[in-house]
Amino acid sequence: MPISFSEDKKIFKLDTAGSTYVIRVNGLGFPEHLYYGAPIPDVNLPGFAKRCRYASFSATVPEAEGDYFDGFTPDTWPLEIGCSGCADMRTAQLQIRNADGNAATDMRYVSHRIYAGKPALPGLPALYEEKPGDCSTLEIETADPVTGAKAILIYTVFERFPAMTRSMIVENASDRPFEIERALSFCLDMNSDAYDLISLYGRHAQERDYMRRPLAHGIQGIYSRRGSSSHAHNPFMALISRGGDEDHGEAYGFNLVYSANFTGLVDVDYNNSARVVMGINPDDFGWTLAPGERFYTPEAVLVYSAEGLGGMSRAFHRLYNHNLVRGEWKYKKRPLLVNNWEGTGMTFDDEKLVAIAKWAKETGLEMFVMDDGWFGTRDDDRSALGDWVVNEKKLKGGIGSLVSRVKAMGLKFGIWYEPEMISPDSDIYRAHPDWCVHVPGRARSLGRFQCVMDMTRADVRDYLFNIMSEVLANNDIDYLKWDFNRNITEAGSALLPPERQKEFYHRFILGTYELMDRITKAFPHLLMEGCSGGGGRYDPGMLYYSPQIWCSDNTDALSRVDIQFGSSLCYPASVQGAHVSASSRSSYETKRNVAMWGTFGYELDPAKISEEARAEIREQIADYHAYYDTIHYGDLYRLICPWDDPYRCAWEFVNEEKTQALVTVLTKFYKEKRNFFLRLKGLDPERYYRRKDTGDVCSGALLMNAGVSLFDFPIGDGESKMLCFEAV
Ligand code: DGJ
Repeated sequence: MPISFSEDKKIFKLDTAGSTYVIRVNGLGFPEHLYYGAPIPDVNLPGFAKRCRYASFSATVPEAEGDYFDGFTPDTWPLEIGCSGCADMRTAQLQIRNADGNAATDMRYVSHRIYAGKPALPGLPALYEEKPGDCSTLEIETADPVTGAKAILIYTVFERFPAMTRSMIVENASDRPFEIERALSFCLDMNSDAYDLISLYGRHAQERDYMRRPLAHGIQGIYSRRGSSSHAHNPFMALISRGGDEDHGEAYGFNLVYSANFTGLVDVDYNNSARVVMGINPDDFGWTLAPGERFYTPEAVLVYSAEGLGGMSRAFHRLYNHNLVRGEWKYKKRPLLVNNWEGTGMTFDDEKLVAIAKWAKETGLEMFVMDDGWFGTRDDDRSALGDWVVNEKKLKGGIGSLVSRVKAMGLKFGIWYEPEMISPDSDIYRAHPDWCVHVPGRARSLGRFQCVMDMTRADVRDYLFNIMSEVLANNDIDYLKWDFNRNITEAGSALLPPERQKEFYHRFILGTYELMDRITKAFPHLLMEGCSGGGGRYDPGMLYYSPQIWCSDNTDALSRVDIQFGSSLCYPASVQGAHVSASSRSSYETKRNVAMWGTFGYELDPAKISEEARAEIREQIADYHAYYDTIHYGDLYRLICPWDDPYRCAWEFVNEEKTQALVTVLTKFYKEKRNFFLRLKGLDPERYYRRKDTGDVCSGALLMNAGVSLFDFPIGDGESKMLCFEAV
C-alpha cells in the first residue's frame, strides 16, 4: 500500500511514483509535517519537527509550557493544518468564527482512514481514479475540543505519477451554527525557504507570463478576486530550488482545481520555514455551517520533481491527460476546426458561414465552429446575451438548416455560448432584472456592456439548461465553446439572505459547475471548449468539464508563443486551444508551427486571405495528423524558454516510445551570425534517428549531447522551423 501508518511512531508515509510525504501525529495530537521530497524508505525522521531552539515570543499550548525553550510551540512546528486564534501565528489554513463570536480554533488528531481509490468532492471538479489501483487515500480527522468543529484532511496519492491531491472537509459536529471565514485546501510547511517562487501572471491577450522571484521573509503569492480564476494570475505556483532550471533542482508544483476567487500564498517565517497554502480566497468569503453540515474545499494538486521544472511539467501533463480530462473526447482525436470569429466577428449570415465551411471542407478541415452573434438581436457586443434563440435574420431557416448544410459537406458543427452572462439590452433581462448579479441600491457595473447571470439561482440554471438544450437536442451539434467575458462586480444575489451574501462567489461557481455537469451528462457526445476572453479561466476546474480551453485571444504567433510556454508549466498540449489566424505578423509557416502546440485549427475568413496563403494552409494539414499523438500525449521538453532567451525559443515533443521527436525553433529577433547547436532531450541515446527534411541519421546520444546543427536554419525575425526526427 502506498500509504502506511506506523502505529508506534504515529507516522504516516505517503508514497507516489516519485515522491514521499511524511506526517507524524505528535504527543499533543497535532498532525505535523516531517518530509516532502524524493522517495525515502524511512519512517524514523529524528529532529524533523524542530524549527528552532528558542521560540521568539511565541506562545504554546498549556500542556507544553515546560518545553518553551526548546521551541515547543505550534507557532514553530511544521503543521498539516494551521488554524487561526490559538498559538500558531502564521498564515492560517482554517479560520472559524464560532458561536461565541471568537475565532480560536485548535485542531487535534481524532482518527484516520486509509483506503484504495479517491473520493469525489460533491459539486466540485476533482481528479479521479482512471484505473482501479491508481490511487490511495488517507483521511485524517481532527477536531476542536471546545467548539465541536472538525476538519478532515484528505490526501490522495497517485501510483503512476509523482503527484498527490489535498483537500479538506469542515464539519460542524456541535449543536450551534458557526461561520467558516477561511478554509483553504491545504497547508504545507516546507523545511526551508531556499526556493524561488514561480507563478503565471497576465492580462487579456497576454496570459500566463512566467515570473520567478526568490522567497523572502513575509507573505508572497497570487490571487483572484474577479469571480473567475482570471487572466491576472493562474491558480498555479511552483517552488524550485535556488539555481534550479528546466532539468535540475527540486520543483514542487501546486495547482488548484477551482475556477473562481482563489489565493496561493507562501509565508516565510522567522525560522526560515516556508508555509504554502492554497484555496478559496478568504476575501469577501464566509460560509455558515449549521450543525451536522459539511463544507468541502476544492482540491489542490501537488507534484514533486527531482528533475527541475521540465520534470514537474511532464508529470502534470500525464496526470491531467489520464486523471482529470474526462468523457468521450478524452482520448478521441479532436477535430481540426475553423472558427469564424477573427474572420467575420458578428457580421455574418448563413451564406457567409456556409462559404467558410465549404473552404474548410476543401482544405481538409473537419469541423466548422460558429462563434458569437448567432442569437437574439446581436450585431455587436451591446445586446442579446441570455436570449439564446437563433437570429433568423442572419441564419435563414434557423440553426437546423445551417447545421444540415454544413453536415451535408461531411463536417462537424460547433456553436458558441456565453451562458453565465446577460445583456441589459435583452428580452431575458427585461423579463427578469433580478436574474443578474447585483446588490440593492447600487448601479450594476458593466463589463463589455454586459452583466453576469446569477448562477447561484436554481431558476436561472434551469432556464439556461432548458434554452440551451432546445438547440443542442434538436440539432446535430458536436462542439460547444463556453465563453465568459467579464469580471464579477457588486457580487450579490437577490435570493440569498444578508448573512449569506458572503457565500456568493463560491455558490456562483458551484452553480456554473452544476450547469456544466448537466450539459455534459445530457449531451455526452459534445466536445466542450472552455474560454474566457481567451484564457481567463484556464484552470483544472474547467478542464474537468471541457477537455480543451481556448488559450488566448492573442493569435499573433510571436507573442502567443510566450503564452504557450507559460501555460505548459502545468497544462498539457492536448488541452490548449491554438489556432492559426490571419493576424498580420509572421508567415503562415510560423503561425502553423506555433499553433501545432495545441489542439490546432484556423480562425479566419478564407475570402480575406491570398490564394498563396490558402494553398499553404492546404499543405499544413497533413503534418497535424502525422504528429497528433506525439504532441497530445508525448513528453514536452522546453529546450529554450522565452524567459531565458529573448531572441530565440525552441520546444520539443517526444512520443512515449521515443521513436518520434518533433522540434520547433523560432527566431523572435535575429541576432547571431554563428552556427548554433540545439541540444535535444528525451531521446533514446542508443537509437539512431533520421531527420526528415535532410535525411541525416544521427544517434540519440549525439543529438542530445552535441545537438543538431542549425547552420541552415532561417534566421530572420519571426522565422521558424519544425524538424522531425524518426527512429530508424
Ligand atoms: C472572447 C473569445 O475569446 C473569442 O474567441 C470570441 O469567442 C469572443 N469572445 C466572442 O465574443
